[in-house]
Amino acid sequence: MLHSAGGQPQDPRETAVGPLDLAARVDDALAVQAVAFGLTDDEVGVRRHIVLRHLASPGARALGATTPEGRLVGFVYGMPNDRTQWWSTVVHPYLRQNGFEHWLGDAFVITELHVHPLYQNRGIGRLLITQLTDAAAEPRSLLSAIDTDSPARALYHRLGYRDLARQVLFPSAPSPYAVMGAPLPLLRPHT
Ligand SMILES: CC(C)(COP(=O)(O)OP(=O)(O)OC[C@H]1O[C@@H](n2cnc3c(N)ncnc32)[C@H](O)[C@@H]1OP(=O)(O)O)[C@@H](O)C(=O)NCCC(=O)NCCS
Repeated sequence: MLHSAGGQPQDPRETAVGPLDLAARVDDALAVQAVAFGLTDDEVGVRRHIVLRHLASPGARALGATTPEGRLVGFVYGMPNDRTQWWSTVVHPYLRQNGFEHWLGDAFVITELHVHPLYQNRGIGRLLITQLTDAAAEPRSLLSAIDTDSPARALYHRLGYRDLARQVLFPSAPSPYAVMGAPLPLLRPHT
């Protein structure tokens, strides 16, 4: 259990989701990702450069979940797909092979979504990704997730994402990924 400076346990329900200056909070965000997803110190250093480069992309946007004390406990960011960017060039042949190449046009890509383990399963992840994509002008969303039955994949399926390609290999990534796509707006619970 996390404790505030006053020693009182923090109530996860009090976290607020809103716009995040990710360039300014990149170290806080990567600290969340490191504990949620598992990153070594070296990987954090590499990711830091990648995140800052991504933020220079047109239309890149981020949201954060913060406690009343301002502690960042979750974040999401993404951007309109750019077919010339590395991610798109890697997934392109897999989507083409499955007849889903057209998904790469006019799509908002979720690049990262992470919630601190102490704050998971309280609706924060759903809120972050739903709010970010609700503000997208594109009619669909794309993302990639490690190709396994994870909480992330369960969440994405419940939001309307379906598998467009499985066993996608990113150079240097040890595990294969699934590429998933959903029409926007994302599904709400009980719809
Ligand atoms: C994926 C992640 C961001 C989800 O955040 P979260 O705040 O825990 O998710 P939510 O509480 O909003 O859950 C939303 C839905 O997912 C489902 N879900 C959450 N955790 C789950 C689990 N462990 N198993 C199955 N379903 C789960 C919930 O049932 C919920 O569905 P519902 O609202 O219809 O009941 C979080 O688990 C995480 O950070 N994981 C580690 C990092 C990671 O894998 N990031 C994604 C990289 S692609």
